[in-house]
Amino acid sequence: MSEINTTYLIVGGGIAGVTCVETLAILHPEKTLVLVTASTLVKNVSNVTFFAKTIVNFDVNETEATSLQKIHPNLKIIYDSLKHLDTEKQKALTDKGVHIQYDVICICTGGIPRLISDSKNSKRVLGIRDTESVKDFQQKLKTGRRMVIVGNGGIASEIVHATSGIEKVWVIRDDYISATFIDPGAAEFFQETFKNENERKNQNTVLRRHIYSEEDSLVSLNKNLKSAALGPDWYRKLENIKSDRGVQELEIVYKAEVESVLEDNKNEYPLRVQLTNSQLVECDFLISATGVEPSVNFTWDKVPEKGQDGGLAVNEFQETSIKNVFAAGDVASAAWEHAPHWFQLRLWTQARQMAGMAAKAMHGRITNQEVLQDFCFELFTHCTKLFGYRVILLGKYNGQGLGTDYEILLRTTPNVEYIKFVLKEGKLQGAILIGETDLEEMCENLILDQIDLSPFGDDILNPDIDIDDYFD
Ligand SMILES: Cc1cc2nc3c(=O)[nH]c(=O)nc-3n(C[C@H](O)[C@H](O)[C@H](O)COP(=O)(O)OP(=O)(O)OC[C@H]3O[C@@H](n4cnc5c(N)ncnc54)[C@H](O)[C@@H]3O)c2cc1C
Ligand SMILES: *[C@@H]1O[C@H](CO)[C@@H](O)[C@H](O)[C@H]1NC(C)=O
Ligand SMILES: *[C@@H]1O[C@H](CO)[C@@H](O)[C@H](O)[C@H]1NC(C)=O
Ligand SMILES: *[C@@H]1O[C@H](CO)[C@@H](O)[C@H](O)[C@H]1NC(C)=O
Ligand SMILES: *[C@@H]1O[C@H](CO)[C@@H](O)[C@H](O)[C@H]1NC(C)=O
Repeated sequence: MSEINTTYLIVGGGIAGVTCVETLAILHPEKTLVLVTASTLVKNVSNVTFFAKTIVNFDVNETEATSLQKIHPNLKIIYDSLKHLDTEKQKALTDKGVHIQYDVICICTGGIPRLISDSKNSKRVLGIRDTESVKDFQQKLKTGRRMVIVGNGGIASEIVHATSGIEKVWVIRDDYISATFIDPGAAEFFQETFKNENERKNQNTVLRRHIYSEEDSLVSLNKNLKSAALGPDWYRKLENIKSDRGVQELEIVYKAEVESVLEDNKNEYPLRVQLTNSQLVECDFLISATGVEPSVNFTWDKVPEKGQDGGLAVNEFQETSIKNVFAAGDVASAAWEHAPHWFQLRLWTQARQMAGMAAKAMHGRITNQEVLQDFCFELFTHCTKLFGYRVILLGKYNGQGLGTDYEILLRTTPNVEYIKFVLKEGKLQGAILIGETDLEEMCENLILDQIDLSPFGDDILNPDIDIDDYFD
């Protein structure tokens, strides 16, 4: 049985674990650091670009864990899994029986995609979390007659909204529709993109302003645009569409989950999906977009507090309720009081930010230095690419938590850009920027400084006016 002593111990080779290692390599290269990773490949962040103070874009790939040793001379990598954590004695035990005595530990064990039971081997069950798999699925769409979509996040909404000519049964656990990722307006922008792929011409720029009233219904300042109805109830109009065979194209099943999936290629529809409300749906394929669950598959002497989502609750320094036990990434649940324009979403960006924060706080603990929470937690940001377009999400980009009393300002130019501002009391709360809009830095400032924009009215998004000039 081997026994190891280390100052820093990090568990998990995802973005969070690797970022924590890299940050500690810079902060404290002379101290010992141990990484426990089950796989010899770890995640690698590269091409880091700052679009603004808090808006960072980067690429993710995999790399041999050994390459981390170049960065950190005192790093020891243990290819193994954490089995038990004794937080009292500050000792970790691995599957293979290695004992590791640590001063501070960071749990970065990530999350596991919620799988639909007994569906792992079917090619007709597609897990979707991002754009790569969306492309794959568009191919399948061409041959399908009916599909089941599971999940209530943005990807599920996007699929429902952006597909036509196929019957859809949308199964959601809740009794309401929510779009966490991309709003229907943006989906419409992408849909237009597909339509115009051959024509590729820039058409007129549209400026629309919607106000969400108390009743959560959509009122448009420009009455002609009311039919565009990009409101919270956008899916209702999809429910009224009839398919070629004369049946309703979209059926939404609320408060249900998938119980089992049976594949039999001899049936008319190869998949039989049994729902928990005892409904049976036959279809050609099933799209699963149900997100991840925090993954803690080891035991503890004493279990730390959990957040509402089942993750390990952490404070603003990423420390759990147990001293010297930190956590970052998908496994963590941000349990501090959030800044007005920040919220947790389990994405690469936040795994990296949390892990950087954890590393600073762990270093501070060892060196007895006080740390402050990183500035990045002031503003939710996420950069990604969808269908070849740069996508930047800022703050409360879907009006999250703003109630019903907010305004939306939109500007879209087909095939070029889609810009959405979320305003409350004349101040910018969030934004979606698709395309090369060059507005990210300005938006960051407008949100962080809560500048009153009411004097400018709709001109903030008037393409003939250079908004930057206002604020010089
Ligand atoms: C299919 C899919 C697509 C996604 N696409 C995107 C995207 O395009 N953009 C984006 O921003 N986010 C995306 N996400 C979310 C993103 O992947 C996560 O938020 C991020 O990877 C979390 O990083 P992490 O380091 O916390 O966890 P992970 O990347 O999950 O890493 C955790 C690591 O810990 C290891 N581990 C677990 N338990 C133990 C143990 N007991 N002992 C040792 N090791 C252990 C695991 O094997 C794993 O290697 C996607 C997620 C999924 C599932
Ligand atoms: C925990 O997860 C890791 C990584 O996925 C895996 O290697 C290990 O076998 C799991 N341990 C248990 C007890 O399931
Ligand atoms: C980093 O950027 C370069 C140049 O754009 C690109 O070729 C490379 O694939 C990127 N790296 C990753 C890991 O995506
Ligand atoms: C990503 O990693 C794989 C495996 O190490 C490698 O083959 C590939 O070239 C890398 N891609 C980029 C863009 O760096
Ligand atoms: C990550 O990938 C980049 C580009 O592929 C490479 O230059 C860098 O060395 C890698 N980092 C590690 C730690 O392997």
